[in-house]
Amino acid sequence: MQSAPVTKYRPFPPVDLPNRQWPSRTLTQAPIWCSVDLRDGNQALAQPMSVEEKLEYFDLLVKIGFKEIEVGFPSASQIEFDFCRRLIEENRIPDDVAIQILCQCREELIVRSIEALRGAKHAIFHLYNSTSPKQREYVFNATQADIIGIAVQGAKWVKQHGAALVKAGTHLRFEYSPESFTSTELPFALQICEAVTDVWAPTPDNKIILNLPATVEYGTPNIHADQIEWMGNRLTRRALTIISLHTHNDRGTGIAATELALLAGADRVEGTLFGNGERTGNLDIVTVALNLYTQGVHPGLDFSNINEIREVYERCTRLEVPARAPYAGELTFTAFSGSHQDAIKKSWPHQKPGRPWDVLYIPIDPADIGRSYKAIIRINSQSGKGGVAYVLENEFGFSLPKLMHKEIGKIINDYADAKGGELATQEIYDVFHREYLDRAAPVALQHFKTTERDSTVTCDAEIAIDKKAHALTATGNGPIDAFVRALGTTALPKFEVLSYAEHSLGKGAEARAVSYIQIKTDRGLTYYGAGIDTNIELASIKAIVSALNRSLR
Ligand code: KIV
Ligand code: ZN
Repeated sequence: MQSAPVTKYRPFPPVDLPNRQWPSRTLTQAPIWCSVDLRDGNQALAQPMSVEEKLEYFDLLVKIGFKEIEVGFPSASQIEFDFCRRLIEENRIPDDVAIQILCQCREELIVRSIEALRGAKHAIFHLYNSTSPKQREYVFNATQADIIGIAVQGAKWVKQHGAALVKAGTHLRFEYSPESFTSTELPFALQICEAVTDVWAPTPDNKIILNLPATVEYGTPNIHADQIEWMGNRLTRRALTIISLHTHNDRGTGIAATELALLAGADRVEGTLFGNGERTGNLDIVTVALNLYTQGVHPGLDFSNINEIREVYERCTRLEVPARAPYAGELTFTAFSGSHQDAIKKSWPHQKPGRPWDVLYIPIDPADIGRSYKAIIRINSQSGKGGVAYVLENEFGFSLPKLMHKEIGKIINDYADAKGGELATQEIYDVFHREYLDRAAPVALQHFKTTERDSTVTCDAEIAIDKKAHALTATGNGPIDAFVRALGTTALPKFEVLSYAEHSLGKGAEARAVSYIQIKTDRGLTYYGAGIDTNIELASIKAIVSALNRSLR
């Protein structure tokens, strides 16, 4: 990198718009969505989709609810042309879906594109040419008047050759993109858009789509919003115009730029699923749509099975949705941090059916997009006690007493530390089992029986201490008290019971009881023990043995 001062780069120029309205607006309705996956997205793939893959992808887009789908650049290659023809000839396009094709301002390409659209019910002819000063100077060596001339001539050819389509019954609409709009002088962008609008003469029933692309994202999202508001304020036929956004993501702010430009008055959004597209990608429509949804605005697109959408996307594009991608990423609903896990666990019970979504750290109900709560908490050495307790309760049904969370949390953290990585929920269960439920040494319980008389309980117990058998008898005010007294007759260290909790595990005939007992040794140390049995009394006796064995380790 250049050392400071940085002279190699210049700040992107702001827009003079003192009365800008967008900062104080909120989004209250969904825009018109147009998928450009099969054109802008596809052209950016190392291995473009085959016709079969494009067909499958098209069906997916229809299923999601897109009503406008850019299907390709049919004049650019035979495969693009054939794909368009198959969609039409095989009647694959629902009546309420318009297919869109992209074309440059050249007559032979326009004629070929019109040919590709023959027989379509609804079609959008998308015409573009580059307008920025650098494009004009470096690439086309053309003046502003030349560039306007190209666009106007292109628009005339589209209208002229498209007439046959209209006559044959196609509802044909027109879209114009001043490519690299955001790098173009605004007055010139306005002038060229007005000139194309003059040719196409939009009506209330057939509005013109003016697509204003951030072909390369150079500026901050607020400047993009200013550019859109500036244009919207000045278009003479604004009411007959659909202002469309087409952001790319070079600065990583394509989503923000789109959201702010919608506030600035744009009506329509072009983008791709998960943001596939040239360089850093096109706008990720999934994120913008679900962002709207989490603000209480239905996007009109259905992502209730996002895993399936992601599967088709990854297979057809051979790209991966990043693990941290909003909504669809592998780790999106996974909390590693202990304090986050704790907050999620504590806020979850407050979530009542029919009430606004309010679970901490999770801005959307994963179930709304077909994802599950189960994977929310995974445990590593950074995880807190709440996460471990959450897994044991939600995955395995153990509702540990609050005070036990700290003890088991430390045991699991130490284990994760030693292992060096993340623990699967089954591993957490196994450690819990080994630590508390499989404790049969040095004390092993072999037999236990109680008899009750006059509110006193007498226990007869057979235990082994270091494999040596002992028969014990004692009386107490309950089975636990009697057993603790019986153990007191042996050479084992003395202890007292501090707390006791139990609940059932499972339901019906299969149900068992689980007991948790906390003891305090004569050295002042506390230990929890746990025991499971179909007999509730025996479960608590096992829990005492478990706690005692843990203290004797
Ligand atoms: O990014 C862009 O400018 C484009 C145009 C062709 C609309 O993809
Ligand atoms: Zn693009």
